[in-house]
Amino acid sequence: MLMSSQSLATDTAENSVLSLLYTIPTAGARRWRVAIVALTLAAVAVASASAGESDVAVGRMIAAQSLIPGRVACAACHMENGAGQPDVGIPRLAGLDARQLEEQLAYFAKGERRSAAMAPYAVALNNTQRRQVAAYFASLPVPAEPDRLASTPQQLARGRSLYADGDQHTEMQACVQCHGVTGLGVGQFSPRLAGQSAAYVADQLARWRAGDMRDPKGAFMQAEARTLSDTDIAAVAAYVAHLGQEP
Ligand code: HEC
Ligand code: HEC
Repeated sequence: MLMSSQSLATDTAENSVLSLLYTIPTAGARRWRVAIVALTLAAVAVASASAGESDVAVGRMIAAQSLIPGRVACAACHMENGAGQPDVGIPRLAGLDARQLEEQLAYFAKGERRSAAMAPYAVALNNTQRRQVAAYFASLPVPAEPDRLASTPQQLARGRSLYADGDQHTEMQACVQCHGVTGLGVGQFSPRLAGQSAAYVADQLARWRAGDMRDPKGAFMQAEARTLSDTDIAAVAAYVAHLGQEP
């Protein structure tokens, strides 16, 4: 629930990361906002449970309560239902693979996947807490209708073509080969993309293209993004955000 919003404009480290998000053509000049999430009664009830709590239940507490003095909780940015904030590129976590989420948290903590926004949160968690919070977000149902940025029919058509057939001029492989026709990903190899926000997908592609490895498996996506133009990144990202709603 979005009760009020607060600007992080004073935090220059986070701003430098987010300025990348702002440059995505479809993202527009929106301000990043942090939703203040109310702790639900259920989360408070879980807090009083003792031994035998499942990973998901403890993970829910971690997601809803700030562990770091002066900083917000995960849910303030990723939302309590894990839907993220599609307009500003904060990724959806709901329904992603638990192992992948846990691994990405470890990469953020090590600084291998560079994100000024995520690093302090990932560092604050120990291995067990990473597993628990990953289990919580993975357990959440994928939102049926992701919020989407406006896109044109031309963008979607170009995006669909890149996704399904790749690009014969640049020899870019089709995304479908590794992420599947419906974008559900392939086990723990490649992540689910269906319904992920266009702003986030475009940001990740632009960073791989710029040579950012992100993690050891980043080589697959670096090769993929190498030849993509800004226009094609925007198109394929718009298409990915529509995956799952296709007939
Ligand atoms: C201040 C806002 C903010 C907070 C708070 C936050 N995140 Fe994030 N998170 C982000 C942003 C922005 C990204 C995208 C990072 C990037 O690659 O640039 C992200 C990315 C992630 C990813 C990677 C998702 C993927 O598909 O690879 C995971 C996992 C994640 N966050 C988990 C968490 C957890 C767990 C917490 C709480 C302990 C948390 N985040 C708190 C903003 C936030
Ligand atoms: C050769 C296999 C392969 C192909 C082809 C491929 N991907 Fe990927 N993709 C991966 C792997 C592996 C990962 C995980 C990378 C990592 O963890 O750093 C990934 C990760 C991603 C992510 C990050 C998701 C997240 O939650 O952070 C996005 C976005 C993405 N791919 C989009 C695409 C798009 C768009 C295309 C087509 C233009 C594409 N991929 C083609 C293998 C592939």
